[in-house]
Amino acid sequence: MNFDYTETQLMIKETARKFAEDELAPSAAERDEKEEFPFEAVKILGELGFMGMMVPETYGGAGLDTISYVLAMEEISRVDASCGVIMSVNNSLVCYGINEWGTEEQKQKYLTQLAAGKLLGAFALSEPEAGSDASNQKTTADKSGNEYVLNGTKNFITNGANADIILVMAATDKTKGPHGISTFIVEKNTPGFSIAKKEKKLGIRSSDTVSLAFQDCRVPASNRIGDEGFGFKFAMRTLDGGRIGIAAQALGIAQASLDASIQYSKQRKAFGKNIAEFQAIQFKIADMATKIEAARLITLKSAALKDTNKPFGFTSAMAKLYASKVAVDAALEAIQIHGGYGYVKEYNVERYLRDAKITEIYEGTSEVQRIVISRGLLKD
Ligand code: CAA
Repeated sequence: MNFDYTETQLMIKETARKFAEDELAPSAAERDEKEEFPFEAVKILGELGFMGMMVPETYGGAGLDTISYVLAMEEISRVDASCGVIMSVNNSLVCYGINEWGTEEQKQKYLTQLAAGKLLGAFALSEPEAGSDASNQKTTADKSGNEYVLNGTKNFITNGANADIILVMAATDKTKGPHGISTFIVEKNTPGFSIAKKEKKLGIRSSDTVSLAFQDCRVPASNRIGDEGFGFKFAMRTLDGGRIGIAAQALGIAQASLDASIQYSKQRKAFGKNIAEFQAIQFKIADMATKIEAARLITLKSAALKDTNKPFGFTSAMAKLYASKVAVDAALEAIQIHGGYGYVKEYNVERYLRDAKITEIYEGTSEVQRIVISRGLLKD
């Protein structure tokens, strides 16, 4: 076991931190307030190679490992968790899915652009009646010659309003349940595709979350990823990796909460001394730091398993379950340490709490992670 980062991993972490501090920090709170998508930041993320970090260089990516991705995701999310999720969906759901299971033609046409940050991707699995129960797909894709005709509605789609490419899961054979679902690459300008309701959210407000509508939307059969019926397994296996990204996002928010608490407690005076001198504050900070370190270790372990081609879905479910809880707890403690100032927008900690909560919900709720973990433990 080696706990040292490589030189490349350290360089990625430092690059991500510098970008986050220089480019994201000055305007993150304002973008959150105004619900403004960070177009300029996403463009720079693409130029830095952060939109397709694990994609091989031959397909326009940075050719890095998942550990580097975790380090970058944590640093970006430490400053701006909205930017973190935009990056995460493009990397671990869209690029990963096409890179693993796409055809050479799909990789040349789409992956090279997505990985270079020239196109943005979204992942459309959730529906009004298919959230945790993801195989209950009502969106249909009927074969018609060399095309599929898509009909249905997707909701809660991150990046949906600004995505150029959407990976859409749809039922090709409703009688087969999870085995009758397929995945399609849909271009945003395809007739019959439209962006519907934009959500107003508690947190990650500068990322966009929308519903998508498909009405007789014709997609070439060559845009199907994998065989007919592979779509549910595609989604589950892709989400196994996505959960590492969300765990890293949660870590970033938790670390930001700790950093803010340390800084504030060393300045804020009460009863004639800095509040950092009170054991009540010291113990909170010690507990936050310990939980964050434990969450970081499980997250890095799941990344290391993925990088060494070992099964990682079970561990990534643990990482997301634990890191998301640590993020919510750390943000709550940060508010408590800041007292009244923590509850108002003068400091960032109220944003950290609002952003942290979604990490317990998207890419599989904490309850879904417990299903995955307990099934892994109890199977024969
Ligand atoms: N890898 C490979 N195959 C898998 C798998 C995995 N991780 N998980 C399940 N499967 C396979 C099963 O082996 C089974 O195949 P067989 O029948 O051949 O054995 C098939 O898929 C069906 O699996 P289950 O019976 O386990 O399916 P289920 O209906 O009981 O669902 C679930 C299991 C874990 C609850 C799953 O539905 C799930 O993960 N739900 C949550 C969905 C989710 O995470 N949504 C997030 C939306 S995307 C998002 O949030 C992105 C964003 O915008 C930020």
